[in-house]
Amino acid sequence: MNIFLTGSTGFLGGELLVNLSKRSEVDKIYCFLRAFSEDEAMIKLENIFRIHHDYFDEKKIIPIIGNLFDEHLTDFLLNNKTITDTDVIIHSAANTSFSKIYDDMVERANMGGLEKILLWAKKLPHLQTFLYIGTATICGKDIKNRLIFEDESPNLAASHLVKYTYTKMHGELIIHKHLPDDKILIARPSIIMGDSRKVVPRSPVILWAAATINQLRFIPADGNSKLDMIPVDYAANAIVCLLFANRKHKVYHISSGQAAATTTLKVCNSMEAYFTDLPPFRFVNKSLLNQIKLWAKGKLQPDSEIYKYPEYLDYWHRVFEDPSALRILLAGLDPYLGFMELGQVFDNTRLLQDVPSIQQSLAADIYINNCMTFIEKIDLLEGALNP
Ligand SMILES: NC(=O)c1ccc[n+]([C@@H]2O[C@H](COP(=O)([O-])OP(=O)(O)OC[C@H]3O[C@@H](n4cnc5c(N)ncnc54)[C@H](OP(=O)(O)O)[C@@H]3O)[C@@H](O)[C@H]2O)c1
Repeated sequence: MNIFLTGSTGFLGGELLVNLSKRSEVDKIYCFLRAFSEDEAMIKLENIFRIHHDYFDEKKIIPIIGNLFDEHLTDFLLNNKTITDTDVIIHSAANTSFSKIYDDMVERANMGGLEKILLWAKKLPHLQTFLYIGTATICGKDIKNRLIFEDESPNLAASHLVKYTYTKMHGELIIHKHLPDDKILIARPSIIMGDSRKVVPRSPVILWAAATINQLRFIPADGNSKLDMIPVDYAANAIVCLLFANRKHKVYHISSGQAAATTTLKVCNSMEAYFTDLPPFRFVNKSLLNQIKLWAKGKLQPDSEIYKYPEYLDYWHRVFEDPSALRILLAGLDPYLGFMELGQVFDNTRLLQDVPSIQQSLAADIYINNCMTFIEKIDLLEGALNP
């Protein structure tokens, strides 16, 4: 089987690439990636394997340099005769930024880029499966505090916290416009954070939010809201096993489900047990976020509620010599706080029933213990500035 994989340099895509490379069913993996030269592309791919000392098979892994923003991407792919023997496309590339300033790029990559890949895919002579890495959060922000099923999305009436989930929802609709049902497989991971193995995770993305919360300690959010989080090694393995499984459905959540869902409070308790020199966590109403921002700007009214918590203000004075650092962190954290309060848990019955080799994931408050030394090293300001 020959696989065309996009997004292999990413957090999940890298793990998918390594996992696929170990499968005997897979002959070649064409990795679509951004690079200035073949040499640079090869170095990027080798580095994906090097991070966890995995075997890099040059004969199996073939770079295809390209960019989702390229206007002529479809023609470029059509003209590349090497990749016409593609049997499976796994589209993992996406712009995953939550920041409003990237909204236009997010739309161009996640909708425009996807459509260009599909226009090539529909002309492939042997295409068996187009596996789209979607996201469970396309259900939007109106569904709160309950278990959510695959059939509830895509829903055009859903409203979204960030443009990213809107574009991922439209991505699913665009696929159906171009390909017949029997070629479509949609995997919708929930929130992917860290790695459950004692290894350096491929990316700090969501762990950045955990590390920032760990540093703030005074959190304007409901700590008891349920969180559906899975580690990247589990997500990649579940997706690859799903690809080779005998499937009854076209859409699958890749999630913790009810059994392994956690809460921010539980994740924070695990961090509190490790980072014992920091103040205890305190969860307060989300409405206090604006007061924290005003405090960081030096514009807080003297009768403001957060003056009731002087120990945290003193602590922030010590940690953030420059209060603008706190403002930058809060700006980056804002959308994450929104997701944290939705209380969404994604049903994983389909996955567990159709893919017997996949068991329930570990809960995030348990496996995060393997990520603590990495959390300590995350550059919080860098993560906030480059989401
Ligand atoms: N992480 C999560 O929590 C999560 C949860 C649910 C679903 N997902 C989905 O999982 C997939 C992978 O996410 P991830 O966490 O691995 O994201 P990521 O680390 O941000 O990786 C994104 C990948 O897409 C590539 N890409 C972005 N723009 C591109 C462009 N214009 N042209 C070519 N390639 C481009 C990136 O390439 P460069 O290296 O060149 O930037 C990178 O390889 C996405 O489809 C995402 O929606 C992620």
